[in-house]
Amino acid sequence: MSDKKPLNIGLVGYGFMGRTHSNGYKRVNDFFGDLEYRPVLKAVCGRTQDKAQAFADQWGYESVETDWKKLVARADIDAIDICTPNDQHAEVAIAAAKAGKMVLCEKPLARTAAESEPMVAAVEEAKVPNTVWYNYRRVPAVTLAKQIVDSGKLGKIFHYRANFLQDWTISADLPQGGAGLWRLDAAAAGSGVTGDLLAHCIDTAIWLNGSIKDVSAMTETFIKERVHTATGEKQAVTIDDACLFHCHFANGSLGLFESTRYARGHKALYTFEINGEHASIRWDLHDLNRLEYFDHSDDSIVRGWRTVHITDGDQPYMGHWWVPGLCIGYEHTFVHQVADFLKSLSTGEPCRPTFRDALETARVCDAVLASAAERAWKNV
Ligand SMILES: NC(=O)c1ccc[n+]([C@@H]2O[C@H](COP(=O)([O-])OP(=O)(O)OC[C@H]3O[C@@H](n4cnc5c(N)ncnc54)[C@H](O)[C@@H]3O)[C@@H](O)[C@H]2O)c1
Repeated sequence: MSDKKPLNIGLVGYGFMGRTHSNGYKRVNDFFGDLEYRPVLKAVCGRTQDKAQAFADQWGYESVETDWKKLVARADIDAIDICTPNDQHAEVAIAAAKAGKMVLCEKPLARTAAESEPMVAAVEEAKVPNTVWYNYRRVPAVTLAKQIVDSGKLGKIFHYRANFLQDWTISADLPQGGAGLWRLDAAAAGSGVTGDLLAHCIDTAIWLNGSIKDVSAMTETFIKERVHTATGEKQAVTIDDACLFHCHFANGSLGLFESTRYARGHKALYTFEINGEHASIRWDLHDLNRLEYFDHSDDSIVRGWRTVHITDGDQPYMGHWWVPGLCIGYEHTFVHQVADFLKSLSTGEPCRPTFRDALETARVCDAVLASAAERAWKNV
């Protein structure tokens, strides 16, 4: 029997993220042995009883709810984990905080900054631990990039650029709305690639390079009408299919960001590069265990971009996994976030990004969309 303190999880939504989080809860104590807490898969909530039960049976949840309000009201639940579409985050998070539950919420925090603000107020007023699953911070190579930037090795930063490219919405026959396709419906998602993909890039950028001051953006909706699954009728598409923006960071550097779901051949190409006075770093999600590094202070005859394989025990998180040289993957970023969340309960330190951190990203997204709509620079 484990002597660890149980942390009873109530999961809302059991799609893609419901699976990544459940895997994180199940694996965390196997690999992070020094944690004081142990997540318990207490209940999963979905609207359809038999589907939720099938998920509970497969993943090992003890019980099922079909109404999130009942889940939030349960005395045996410590933490509510929100894995539903973006329009379903705010109401659940606010009710959970008011009920004194810890809240872990998928990104983006909500559809807009205005919708996010009461969520921040609710968790702060209730003083409940909270975190938002901007999981790319916890790719070991990205965490190492943060350590390198903070060490000052790059010197003054001049440029930050990031891309997040996909190609899955090019077909005009793809409907909008409903299961699996809610991302194409602005009513559910809030926005298109800006809130879905660029929000990740913005969160990482703020973490690595500090606040964004102002933005100038352009967006495009390439396919103007799609059948809506709810009505069966063609309706205007109101999401951004592609978004490009440039910006000033508070530290004086310039930022350049691009995201689209129309880059044929790219599935989830998240890349970033930072150019400093003394050194540069770059990273690519398709090769997530590697960090590329250029150091101008190297001897000139061997100076060049080096590729560092981030698998050694002294590199972030890797001491918990295999032996040097052996890779980890996407799912591990969620294990890391669970580990850091549990650690934060012991230390009392916040598990970043908190709801307040994610509000800053939401404000940048809003400024980007407003800039594109008005064809004007916007302060964040
Ligand atoms: N961190 C990441 O990298 C990442 C990746 C993908 C998605 N996300 C975010 O995670 C959230 C969920 O995305 P997903 O890809 O898992 O979506 P999904 O469509 O795979 O799953 C959504 C789940 O929510 C359920 N659901 C919808 N409305 C509900 C309601 N009213 N009550 C209860 N359940 C409801 C659906 O039945 C489904 O189980 C979104 O906010 C998305 O932006 C984050």
